[in-house]
Amino acid sequence: MALRLPGKKAVIVGGASDMAQAANRIFLEEGADLFLIDFNETALREFKESEPEYAGRIHLYPADVTSPEQIEKAFQTAEEVMGRIDILVNIAGIIRHHPITEMSYEDWNAVLRVNLTGYFHTCKNAVPYMKAQRYGRIVNIASIGGRTGRPGCGCNYSASKAGVVGLTQALAKELAPWSITVNAVAPGPLKGKMFYSMTKEQQEKLEEGIPLGELGDMDQIAYAILFLASDEASYATGEVFDINGGLYI
Ligand SMILES: NC(=O)c1ccc[n+]([C@@H]2O[C@H](COP(=O)([O-])OP(=O)(O)OC[C@H]3O[C@@H](n4cnc5c(N)ncnc54)[C@H](O)[C@@H]3O)[C@@H](O)[C@H]2O)c1
Repeated sequence: MALRLPGKKAVIVGGASDMAQAANRIFLEEGADLFLIDFNETALREFKESEPEYAGRIHLYPADVTSPEQIEKAFQTAEEVMGRIDILVNIAGIIRHHPITEMSYEDWNAVLRVNLTGYFHTCKNAVPYMKAQRYGRIVNIASIGGRTGRPGCGCNYSASKAGVVGLTQALAKELAPWSITVNAVAPGPLKGKMFYSMTKEQQEKLEEGIPLGELGDMDQIAYAILFLASDEASYATGEVFDINGGLYI
C-alpha cells in the first residue's frame, strides 16, 4: 500500500509526549522525517533509541515552547536539517488543575504560556517556510476541556484549549490562499502520564459518563493526527476533530 506521508518533513512540538510518541511511530512508518522539539531532553533521546531502524530520520531539538528565541532557532535548524517543513504538529501541553478560588496567577499564566502562546510561537515560525512552499499542514492538539469544559480540567487549561480552537480557525482562513491547512484534534481523557498525574478524585470526574465506556488510547488520537497531516485531508481546514468516546454530543 502507498505510504501516506512519503518524504514529508514534520516538526512535532512536544515530541517526547505520550501522544507524540504514538504519532511519531506512525509518521515514521508512513514515510515522514521527524524533527522533535521538547524540553524533556532525556525523553527525546529515549524515544530515538527506541526506534533504531529509523534513527537517520529522527532529529532531536531540546527547547522550551515558551521562549520565542529558542523556538525561532529551532525552526531555522529544522529547515536547515530537513530542507523544508511540510507539517507542524503542536502537542506540548501542561495541566495544573485547581478550583478558581485556589488558582494562583502563576498557575493561570503558566498554562496559557505553554498551551496557547507556545502554539503561537511555533505557528509563527513555521508559517514563513510553508508560505514560501505554498504548502503546509498544521495540526494543533486541543482538548474536550476547551470544547465543553470538563470537571477536573481547570479553567486555565480549558481556556488555553479553547484558545487553540480559535487560533486554529483564524489561521485556517488566513493561510488558505497558500494551501496551508490548519486543523485541530480535541481528545477526551486518554491513558497517559497527564491523566495518571491527577488525583484519584480528578481522574474519576474525568472518566465519568464516557458513552464508549473507557479512556482513549494515544494511538486513537495519533491516527487522527496522521489523517489531518496527510494529503488525504487536503480539503479540510479550520476543523476540530473531537475524539472522546462520545462525550461531546
Ligand atoms: N492525556 C490526556 O488525557 C489528554 C486529553 C486531551 C488533550 N490532551 C493534550 O494532548 C497533548 C499531549 O498530552 P499527553 O497526555 O501526551 O501529555 P504528556 O504530559 O505526555 O506530554 C506533554 C509534553 O509537553 C512537553 N512540554 C511541556 N511543557 C513544555 C515546554 N514549555 N516546552 C517544551 N515542551 C514542553 C513535555 O515535556 C511533554 O513531553 C497535550 O497538549 C494535552 O493537553 C491530553
